[in-house]
Amino acid sequence: MATTNERSVPTGIELTVLDAAYQQDPYPVLERLRELDPVHYDAVLKRYVLTRAADVEALLWDRTLSVDPRKAAPGTFEANFVFAERDRAPSMLFSDPPYHTRLRKLVSKAFTAKAVEDMRPRIQAISDGLLDALDTDGEIDLMKSFAEPLPTIIIAEMLGVDPADRDDFKRWSDIGVMAFNPLLTAEEREAVDAATAALDQYLRGAIAERRARPRPDLITSLVAAEDGGEQLTEDEIVTMCALLLAAGNVTTTDLIGNGVRALLQHPEELRKLQDDPSLIKNAVEEVLRYDSPVTQSGRMPPEGIEIGGVQIGAGQSITPSLAAANHDPAVHQDPHRFDVTREKVEHHSFGGGVHYCLGAPLARAEAQVALGTLVRRFPNIRPGHSPREWRRVPSFRGLSKLPVFLR
Ligand code: HEM
Repeated sequence: MATTNERSVPTGIELTVLDAAYQQDPYPVLERLRELDPVHYDAVLKRYVLTRAADVEALLWDRTLSVDPRKAAPGTFEANFVFAERDRAPSMLFSDPPYHTRLRKLVSKAFTAKAVEDMRPRIQAISDGLLDALDTDGEIDLMKSFAEPLPTIIIAEMLGVDPADRDDFKRWSDIGVMAFNPLLTAEEREAVDAATAALDQYLRGAIAERRARPRPDLITSLVAAEDGGEQLTEDEIVTMCALLLAAGNVTTTDLIGNGVRALLQHPEELRKLQDDPSLIKNAVEEVLRYDSPVTQSGRMPPEGIEIGGVQIGAGQSITPSLAAANHDPAVHQDPHRFDVTREKVEHHSFGGGVHYCLGAPLARAEAQVALGTLVRRFPNIRPGHSPREWRRVPSFRGLSKLPVFLR
């Protein structure tokens, strides 16, 4: 059997992960990897990158694998994620069953398809309110004015955060997401530490308040949640709220932003959607496939395993590239084509297995309402003159700036 290093070919992915060119278009590099070295050892970030859809799917659903960075072999990509939770109780995203099962069960009720459907009128009202406030005369940045505030307002309302605290909340959330970047500088780590401390202090205050005066919100439900008589500890509630905030904000913002970008770059697809608004659900699935806001996840084998002829040792990091799987021609016909009428759109953008995205119904509902309403209310929406800008965080893919004209 070949060892990893014998199989690794100089595709250049190590050098490009944070490059502007890779951020703008990672798909050619991922395609080269899939063709030349589908189980690629990334020697810089110390992880194995999978780019074939079949390998990604099998990995995500393999219940024997771990997501707990505390079990990672020292020095590997995953081991760096310990930083994200070092002063907190473990979150469900970074823990294995049975602890994971308990945490997920306690919060899943709030995110069922039914619970989310009940939220649609509110999502619509918030979207309309944000769109009402836009300056329609000149160029605007749609990220700042629409794609960023919408998910923050929704999750803040679900948790019961006072509107006056929302800006702080959003700032802490944005900085908190940086903790998912294993390539932080010392300065960035300090910023993450400060934001984490501020958010935790805020949440501890909110928890104490709910204990004294329950309200109809998610923090109160978490305070009251019982699983076989065992309540969540304060530390666990803090972690849960921080995770919901971090996992639900930037991701959904990027789904909306990537969707608008794809539609503006493909005016014929935009027109199809405007002519037939019932295409919106399919269009959002196609955006998820075509340009996934989360580009990769992670798993570790507790014992050595073999993938595609490559032997991978215990505790090594394996990175399933969701973005690469979504563009694998073995599964998707004409994968680089954006097509809002594509039949049976499939993708791996919400991961898989026991960690399959808890917020998928919410993310879908928000994006369907946001994109559907935007293109209906502004039929002449078109790209602005200023350049678009990409954020540089390895696991996420989205714009920091999306200039458009609405009229
Ligand atoms: C477009 C938006 C979103 C995308 C692309 C996305 C993607 C993902 C992915 C890839 C995972 C990891 C799955 C795995 O490793 O198998 C995940 C997990 C998770 N997501 Fe999302 N997500 C989005 C929105 C949301 C929202 C709105 C929330 C909640 C407010 C949320 C909450 C979570 C949670 C709690 C987990 C951890 C689940 C677990 O470990 O059991 N996500 N998401």
